[in-house]
Amino acid sequence: MSVFRVKSLEMLLAETEEKDTRLKRTLGAVQLTSLGIGAIIGAGIFTAVGTAAAGGAEHIGAGPALVVSFLLVAVACGFAALCYAEFAAMVPVSGSAYTYSYATLGELVAWIIGWDLILEYAVGNVAVAISWSGYFQELVRGFGVEIPLWLGTDYRSALQGAHDVAAATARGVDPSTLGIVIERAAQAYAQAPVVFGLPIVFNLPAFLIVALITWVLVRGINESAWLNSSMVALKLVIIGFFLVIGAFYVKPEHWTPFAPNGFRGISSAAAIIFFAYIGFDAVSTAAEEARNPQRDMPIAMIASLVICTVIYILVAIVLTGMVPWNQLGTAEPLATAFSAIGMNWTAAIISLGAVFATTSVLVVFQLGQPRIFFSMARDGLLPPWAAKVHKKYRTPWVTTILTGVFVGGFASIANINEVVELTNIGTLFAFVLVSLGIIVLRRTDPDRPRAFRTPLVPWVPLLSIVCCVYLMIELPWVTWIRFVVWLVIGLVIYYMYGARHSQLNNART
Ligand code: ALA
Repeated sequence: MSVFRVKSLEMLLAETEEKDTRLKRTLGAVQLTSLGIGAIIGAGIFTAVGTAAAGGAEHIGAGPALVVSFLLVAVACGFAALCYAEFAAMVPVSGSAYTYSYATLGELVAWIIGWDLILEYAVGNVAVAISWSGYFQELVRGFGVEIPLWLGTDYRSALQGAHDVAAATARGVDPSTLGIVIERAAQAYAQAPVVFGLPIVFNLPAFLIVALITWVLVRGINESAWLNSSMVALKLVIIGFFLVIGAFYVKPEHWTPFAPNGFRGISSAAAIIFFAYIGFDAVSTAAEEARNPQRDMPIAMIASLVICTVIYILVAIVLTGMVPWNQLGTAEPLATAFSAIGMNWTAAIISLGAVFATTSVLVVFQLGQPRIFFSMARDGLLPPWAAKVHKKYRTPWVTTILTGVFVGGFASIANINEVVELTNIGTLFAFVLVSLGIIVLRRTDPDRPRAFRTPLVPWVPLLSIVCCVYLMIELPWVTWIRFVVWLVIGLVIYYMYGARHSQLNNART
């Protein structure tokens, strides 16, 4: 039994033709690019950007230099996207980085990456669902509907809020100076019904939106691609609205000092707003459902990354020009920017945009995660029932529902900042392995036809690795601990199940 066995590309491609586990090829270049934008613009630009600009928790804010953080991360992601594009065009099967590493770096690395991708897709979506819930509550509040705070907050934040307010009061500090986020969390704790001594606080809207999307996805990719395209169009319109209206309220004096916390602030912010770029790689999970993956995969990934980079840079310039950077550390910074200048109706429209934006991110990631599980099950690394395709809808329904339960469950109890950091470290690690895979495969299989070639190998993959490792190092140590624990759990599962049940193992014995 060798944990370094690789799965040949021929075998991978042949499997996609097997009847029982074959997916429908329906998506074209425009739909795939839209899938990419759908995955990219979401909680990152609408929520995480606040902490990135103003600082908070374990991070130092970038201030107006946030635009530099966005540029740096775009360059890092650009290197990684060029690596992903070569793989996605060459191995157009569902499963993304997991599948590529199976064909290049061997089964153990493939398992590690597949397990790691759960952090990107499922855990990432936990953060997005929490952000969705925040803006949704903001929106309905505008219509006079107040969701009880104990039904719209996670337990950890509520507990922390109560603790912070109590500590401030004990020091004689006015708790209202702690900011609206902490104040609301503390209220949620105070208002919670108590059952058997335990205050009941959980994020119900976050749970419900995940349940709804899961239901849509089980019914089929065509409906979901349509849903995604409409959401993408809507969110682009709303961001355009933010930029056009916001531009009128920019005061250039807010841009000085440009980098109040120097390069430390810029790097620290970069490690968070990396979250805003995650998603261009999610296009690759739909490779098996693409009509012409060799041509369209690279186009869709690179186009969606470029479009989003331009949008983010504009948003960063306008946002930090509208209000002093240190006032942006709220859960809804784009709406805050307008409320701060007294334009509440505009803030409400932005909240609506954020709800659409995060919904489309949720769709793409809830679509991607089951397809990775599906590929792993097809390879025998997960139990066979996970690879079942629904007879009528032709979707991987078992893994879609499992993902829904996992994401919905955690979204109702988790804290968004911690989840964002864990997602980032996991995704950056996946990018590192994919970039490494490009260098390895160019050596081990130089003659294989490559519909798209990463330029300047090994330099571009090496630069991708250096940038990603740098951003990983910028994340707090507690995130590293969680990440390592997650990988260790994965390894235990692999040795107890996957290593024995692998299809490649059975083929040999
Ligand atoms: N990039 C995605 C978002 O910001 C994950 O929501």
